[in-house]
Amino acid sequence: MSAPTDAQRMEKIVSLCKRRGFIFQSSEIYGGLNGAWDYGPLGVELKRNLKNYWWRVIVHERDDVVGMDGAILTHPAVLKASGHVEGFSDPMVDCLITGKRFRADQIDGQSGQIAEFVGAVDALSFHKLTREGETPERSTIWSKTDIAPALRMVFKNQSGGFRGEEGSGFVEFGDVPEAKLDSLRKLIEQNLFTSASLQPFSALDMTGDLKNFVSISKRGFNPTIKLAQEFYEKRGVPFPVVFMLRPKTVENTKRYNPENGALLTEPRPFNLMFKTYVGATEDESSIAYLRPETAQSIFVQFKTILEVSRKKLPFGIAQIGKAFRNEINPRNFTFRSREFEQMELEYFCRPEQAIELLEYWKNERLKFYENVGISRANLHVRNVPDEERAFYSKGTYDIEYDFPFGRQELEGVAYRTDYDLLQHQKASGKSLEHFDDEAKERFIPHVVEPSAGVDRTILALICDAYAEDQAPNDKGEMESRVVLRFHPRMAPIKCAIFPLLKNKEPLVAKAKEIVALLRPHMTVFYDEGGAIGRRYRRQDEIGTPFGVTIDFETLGEKDPALRDTVTLRDRDSMKQERVAIEDLPSILRERIR
Ligand code: GAP
Repeated sequence: MSAPTDAQRMEKIVSLCKRRGFIFQSSEIYGGLNGAWDYGPLGVELKRNLKNYWWRVIVHERDDVVGMDGAILTHPAVLKASGHVEGFSDPMVDCLITGKRFRADQIDGQSGQIAEFVGAVDALSFHKLTREGETPERSTIWSKTDIAPALRMVFKNQSGGFRGEEGSGFVEFGDVPEAKLDSLRKLIEQNLFTSASLQPFSALDMTGDLKNFVSISKRGFNPTIKLAQEFYEKRGVPFPVVFMLRPKTVENTKRYNPENGALLTEPRPFNLMFKTYVGATEDESSIAYLRPETAQSIFVQFKTILEVSRKKLPFGIAQIGKAFRNEINPRNFTFRSREFEQMELEYFCRPEQAIELLEYWKNERLKFYENVGISRANLHVRNVPDEERAFYSKGTYDIEYDFPFGRQELEGVAYRTDYDLLQHQKASGKSLEHFDDEAKERFIPHVVEPSAGVDRTILALICDAYAEDQAPNDKGEMESRVVLRFHPRMAPIKCAIFPLLKNKEPLVAKAKEIVALLRPHMTVFYDEGGAIGRRYRRQDEIGTPFGVTIDFETLGEKDPALRDTVTLRDRDSMKQERVAIEDLPSILRERIR
């Protein structure tokens, strides 16, 4: 079952991200670089919180996992051995009109009428020949006996339509298309048409594997005629009169551009890796790749790391870092980017332990997402069927999230068998075998890999946290507010500090003291501008879970017992509690851990 989509909600989220400094389009002042994003002051804090928490639970809180930080520039031999140079590709197709590129496997099926066009000639020549056909005995062209039958075949009893009497249009080739097409070819060979005489046969015999143009439409065939005219015009026929075969109805086809209905080219593989050159020469010998996943450097260093860390199997190596893929269609905000970060764990084990560990890691990873505040109801586990899995994988779970644009993968948890280590052993000639002291045997370890995307998880965190509700303003009237209900452990700013009035020096001084007290423990934000309700609203919108207000009670002006206490406001319940300033660090530390 797929989740319903909500484009409006997504638009609001993207706009909030930009307005409040979470995520911006990269190189925006130059028109933007498609598929690349910059994280602003709040976005970078959110990202750090996520990565730190992943590192904490995967590496620091475990005995059986160590970390590494590998290079992004990767030797081609590594990626040849892993299969990326040959096989890391997506099927791509191009629109014959706009040239826009799509991933063939991401095109939704369409149903409608398809119209096939077998060619076109320019309107000027077409109308001249049609007119002369009305009095053939007075026309030098129609009087040529060798082409008169062909002229009659194409120009007599046409059914079609034209834009104005002399304009571009279409002719239906009806029941005997082959005979009509042969006649048309014959006439083109005689150089009877302006465009054809410049470039004989150009409109009918295009380069490439397509001679004809086909398009689909759900609303009659007028749009398809317009598209066909654009197609032939781009190929040198001015004001084209297009020749159309009788339209047919088709169901659920993926051969047409979903945006304009034009036929797409046949799918061809497109390698997703970014290639670069290392050093001063640009030739075959200096090629390197930007890594398409962090995993390969872990496999390549597996043996060294196992030795230096003196661990026993099962044992894991974790890495967080950038990966690069030249995605055909980056889309859905940061969801599919060309530069992104991964959090990957390669967990090495004996073959007989792998299936159990696959279940274990799937459950651990689900717990992780709940612990960073993503609602369990929006998380789903998909058991990836055999035909969709990599050939070497003996089991894969996708952990999916209900984004506003639909249910999509956040993380893959895959049993990769011994494939990667075996490949690198074969290609490098270096043994990657492990010697098991207890069993006294040598073998290539098997691997279970939980591989998560930082950027996708950040997007899921923001989508899950985004809410609109009602909150009282300074006059006690309810008004709508936008709030990011981040889990306190993920929130970019943990606590906002507000002196009730900015022109009351003792309030301001106390507030600044509290900033200094909390700053070593957490991110804080000091705000003295505007009514207190407005200040709360600004913090709610960026997901700050706690707000501390310094008021006259804090100064002991109303009740000496309340001296050095402050109100601590909770973002979600909007409840306020009175707490001693000296207790603030421990209370807040406990809640944000
Ligand atoms: N080492 C295995 C691996 O890389 P993957 O399913 O291709 O597997 C793992 O990628 C995760 O990386 C995905 O689940 C996703 O979260 C993230 N990811 C992959 N491609 C991405 C892209 N183009 N943009 C953002 N995140 C991406």
